[in-house]
Amino acid sequence: MENLKRTVTCGELKASDTGKIVILNGWVHRKRDHGGISFINMRDHSGITQVVVDETAEESFKAIAEGLKYEYCIAVQGTVRTRPPEMVNPDMPTGEIEVSASLIAVLSACDTLPFMIDQRSDARDDLRLQYRYLDLRSFSMQKNIRIRGEAMFRAREYLRQEGFCEIETPTLIRSTPEGARDFLVPSRIHAGKFYALPQSPQLYKQLLMVSGFDRYFQIARCYRDEDARGDRQLEFTQIDMEMSFVSKDDVFRVTEGMLVHMFRRTLGVELPAAFPRISWEEAMDSYGSDKPDLRFDLKLRDFAPYVEAGSFSVFKDVLAQGGAVKVLVAPGCAGYSRKQITGLEEVAKTYKAQGLAWAKVTAGGLEGGVAKFYEASAAQITRDLEAREGDLLLFVGAPKNIARLSLGAVRSRLGKDLGLAKQDEFKFAWIVDFPLFEWNEDEKKWDAAHHMFSMPQEKYLSTLEQNPGEVKGDMYDLVCNGCEMASGSIRIHDPEIQKRIFAIAGYSLQDAEQRFGFLLNAFRYGPPPHGGIAPGFDRLVMLMCGETTIRDVIAFPKNTVGVSPMDEAPSDVEQKQLDELRLKTVTEEGTQSRKCADGT
Ligand code: AMO
Repeated sequence: MENLKRTVTCGELKASDTGKIVILNGWVHRKRDHGGISFINMRDHSGITQVVVDETAEESFKAIAEGLKYEYCIAVQGTVRTRPPEMVNPDMPTGEIEVSASLIAVLSACDTLPFMIDQRSDARDDLRLQYRYLDLRSFSMQKNIRIRGEAMFRAREYLRQEGFCEIETPTLIRSTPEGARDFLVPSRIHAGKFYALPQSPQLYKQLLMVSGFDRYFQIARCYRDEDARGDRQLEFTQIDMEMSFVSKDDVFRVTEGMLVHMFRRTLGVELPAAFPRISWEEAMDSYGSDKPDLRFDLKLRDFAPYVEAGSFSVFKDVLAQGGAVKVLVAPGCAGYSRKQITGLEEVAKTYKAQGLAWAKVTAGGLEGGVAKFYEASAAQITRDLEAREGDLLLFVGAPKNIARLSLGAVRSRLGKDLGLAKQDEFKFAWIVDFPLFEWNEDEKKWDAAHHMFSMPQEKYLSTLEQNPGEVKGDMYDLVCNGCEMASGSIRIHDPEIQKRIFAIAGYSLQDAEQRFGFLLNAFRYGPPPHGGIAPGFDRLVMLMCGETTIRDVIAFPKNTVGVSPMDEAPSDVEQKQLDELRLKTVTEEGTQSRKCADGT
């Protein structure tokens, strides 16, 4: 290899390099043989160079060139020459030149490819994951993974400058479920006991505050046994941060500064120095979502003021039962067919709405759907809603949260269908004043909405237990383009308040002691007031790369059912391993009759 080592990469040669003798290392991207001449498009991560083996070359050399197949790994020595004017390719950065080869060495051959590199949209997702090392050769994946690396470096760079200390916390921890299911790891030494993989380093970072590391961060791997989706993986990465002696404004400032730095240095994109803040209540009311896409306006409006004057009894009943009627003006959608409206109704129904009512705005007022119930007030309704001829009004009447969420989902769908959001725009916003608890209808109890360590806002402290549903927390999310990017809160550092929160969430003092005793103990030793946040790194990179799934920005992700088709994880293990762990597996039919080595 010594005398075949590259002197240039495949993406850098220009007309000004004409006459230079160069060596290229890379892969055969495309190849065509044409009238005794071979044209080889040679690729590495930086680009493509056209290599030519001329008609006049020696027969043995021509034979090597002709024998090359896609993705052979090769070294080429040759002379840079400008292409004849008619052969210049303005779409290629190296399109002005070609390399006339004097030597080609095959460094390694390549089997028949399962799919063409850089034509990944044709390949099934699982095939791409099975041959992930080939998929990663494509320019788009190279770009994504390199953006990821750069963004990670820039996050570190910024946080170091801001005086943060990077500290690793354990990944074999005590099981303290945080909301999702834990992944468990059996202990061999302590048979029958389990470690858990952390869902996040939440408790450890709070303990580090007790230890006096007043500005901590970690690029942390997190593990959650939940269904994988576009923006969820079983294992993912957070930029985990915690700070002592801070208010939420300090946490916001650092996070904004870090994102501005990451976007500027990684993408050359300038984000605003501070992001707008929207209360949870307003986000839900106006956008029907706690992670609104703010790239387009399209706000939900309250239709209750018009219900009484109309004659639609369904909406009247909803209001009588304490529900809400919300309306959305879909711009220019009056021409929607029944089928299209039914499609939107299906979206609303996935959020438990009974249906989606509609009326078209015409020159004469409102038409079709529920228009007949509002004839008298049609003019006022269209004026108040600023609806124009050709718009479509969409209504949901339901219990308040269902009305907001379902019409919010319709808003998101319309945003996509109508192309309302610019693809290269980043609209960050803070969502603040979250409810501290949410009602768990299945178990008929209050759950902590974020996690149990978030501080209630001061004004609710005296009345926490009276009406948990009303309590707002010192909690915040950062959202961008309809996706939750980060979550955090000011934490409880007073053990008494912490115990009250545990009690409301249904943990007896004994339960709480057993699960979180170490944290409560630590809080007896002068814990500083503290707070933090954890941006989801995969989601941030997905946004930066303009992708729609975090799979496309993770080198080796799992598929939607949690499988890695490449190495076939999860897999069976040897009986000996199970025996050592004193584990028996259970099938549908019952316990397998496998005995442990010691006969138990
Ligand atoms: P939370 O659970 O909201 O908060 O997670 C923080 C951020 O992590 C990202 N995220 C995920 N990304 C990919 N796949 C997943 N399965 C996944 N789950 C979450 C999201 C989310 O906003 N310890 C707290 C943070 C804190 O309070 O400081 C926590 O983990 O972008």
